[in-house]
Amino acid sequence: LRVTWDLDKAEKSGYEHFMLKEIYEQPKAIQDTMASRISQEQVDLSQEISLSSQVIQQIDKVQFVACGTAYHAGLVGKYVFEDLTRIPVEVDIASEYRYRNPIITERTLVIVISQSGETADTLAALREAKKAGATVLAITNVVGSSVAREADQVLITWAGPEIAVASTKAYTSQLIAIYLLGTYFAQMRGTCTVEDAKQIVSELTRLPQRVEAILEQSAKIKDFAAQIVNHEHLFFLGRGLDYAVALEGSLKLKEISYIHSEAYAAGELKHGTLALIEEGIPVISLATQRAVYEKMVSNIQEVKARGAYLLGLTVEGDQELQKSVDAVLHLPETLDILSPVLAVVPLQLVAYYACVARGFDVDKPRNLAKSVTVE
Ligand code: G6P
Repeated sequence: LRVTWDLDKAEKSGYEHFMLKEIYEQPKAIQDTMASRISQEQVDLSQEISLSSQVIQQIDKVQFVACGTAYHAGLVGKYVFEDLTRIPVEVDIASEYRYRNPIITERTLVIVISQSGETADTLAALREAKKAGATVLAITNVVGSSVAREADQVLITWAGPEIAVASTKAYTSQLIAIYLLGTYFAQMRGTCTVEDAKQIVSELTRLPQRVEAILEQSAKIKDFAAQIVNHEHLFFLGRGLDYAVALEGSLKLKEISYIHSEAYAAGELKHGTLALIEEGIPVISLATQRAVYEKMVSNIQEVKARGAYLLGLTVEGDQELQKSVDAVLHLPETLDILSPVLAVVPLQLVAYYACVARGFDVDKPRNLAKSVTVE
């Protein structure tokens, strides 16, 4: 009897690449990051975060500090925290923060985000913030990492090991940690009603099944990716939270497919990028935010009129967008504030399929490392 099996594939649970495996692990990673932190339709972090309600009420500024994909999670964090807690928020790239003499007081909460917990710049920023008297809270995926050990407070993302250099499940888990923290603070500060908190919690718990529903549309996403593989330039457009997601989608595409892409806040189009839109250039447009939907559609029409090839992302039930784009993808219904967790998934898959079609190494892109432990 001869048994043939592939050790490499076994490690990837049958998936072709770690990145694909990790994209498909997102429903579980999200679920695990929420589990045990939600009880009686409220967020309860009191077992892990030892900040008293009084201290939480005294915070007068939040600074998110991180690198790469984790920085993009911080950009979502700004919208979420300002909306839910009404605390002013800054977001910094760690390598900028550590050299810019930021204003820090004892009432500043610095939230560092790091999948590995070992990124040199993030760790240095954490130390600077601590030295200046801030309270530092770390969102990290690695228990016992340097960032986890040195921060005053730690919130672990339970995404499990992430092997592919391009981060996927760590990002969506970081978003979940941000929603939990934002809602917890809002409950403490009285900036959201009990009913609002309940609604956020109830929608959070539905996210895993909603991510599953997007993964089931992978064939459609693969078809779209096939349309962009021969292009060298591409644009992502979005407004509000969609802009933050566009930045992450653009990074994913650059990292592994080596297609040059730029993410733009759609309202800025007229101030430069529109000059680059020509016949056939692919544009991925996100229109999941109801408050700016009309504005977004008019931006989409502007690029369409100049010949762009458009993929539009919108929410279930929207029959409008498809009139202005070449391909449309409908995301399951959720709260606008939670939409980044869903909207990023098709963008991860576009990057993945584009990379595979172009024949590059998905899990180990050239010149990049999983964790940058030197400056
Ligand atoms: C590297 C990785 C990225 C990651 C960034 C920050 O550039 O390739 O995927 O987002 O570092 O890493 P961290 O471990 O701090 O989240």
